Amino acid sequence: MPTCWTLPRGIVRTHPAGEHKDMLRIRVLHGPNLNLLGTREQSIYGTLSLDALDSAITKLAKELAVKVDLRQSNSEGELVTWIQEARTKYDGIIINPAAYTHTSIAIRDAIAAVGLPTVEVHLSNIHQREEFRHRSHIAGVAIGQISGLGPTGYLLALRGLHDHLIASQRQKKTTAPAPSRRTAKGMK
Ligand code: DQA
Repeated sequence: MPTCWTLPRGIVRTHPAGEHKDMLRIRVLHGPNLNLLGTREQSIYGTLSLDALDSAITKLAKELAVKVDLRQSNSEGELVTWIQEARTKYDGIIINPAAYTHTSIAIRDAIAAVGLPTVEVHLSNIHQREEFRHRSHIAGVAIGQISGLGPTGYLLALRGLHDHLIASQRQKKTTAPAPSRRTAKGMK
């Protein structure tokens, strides 16, 4: 079976030529009501649909040679399950938890539990809006938060997480103990 990545709502796309098993893998999660992007409160969230946003993320992911898995759910439990699953299959997470940002200890705990570098994204500037949106339960377990830059925020998050993951891979390589002389000579 060819390696593949899943797009939201069950669409599966096979890897283009040139992908390899060492590619960085990032799971992108969209929370509740983001399926309505493009029609929902356009003055706040703009006119771009979720499909168009996902296409832009997928395009940049290809340029960066990152494998992305994009999903949307209106259910907190489903988001928690996808975060848990990511522990062994992905290197990092980008999440717009939408309204769950302000309410969900379960999503925060799932991110803390898997320990994957996670970037929190919001299309609107949550700090400029109603007071109840100023509080994020996710920010404390994320490596960073991007808020208020619209769809560009996701692209910046992808670049930022990509750079973060590459830097930590490099650091792991340089701090890994040098092979012992015996191992280096192929001795057991
Ligand atoms: C949002 C901001 C949240 O406060 C809101 O509940 C959303 C979208 C954003 O992307 O701006 O649904 O996460």
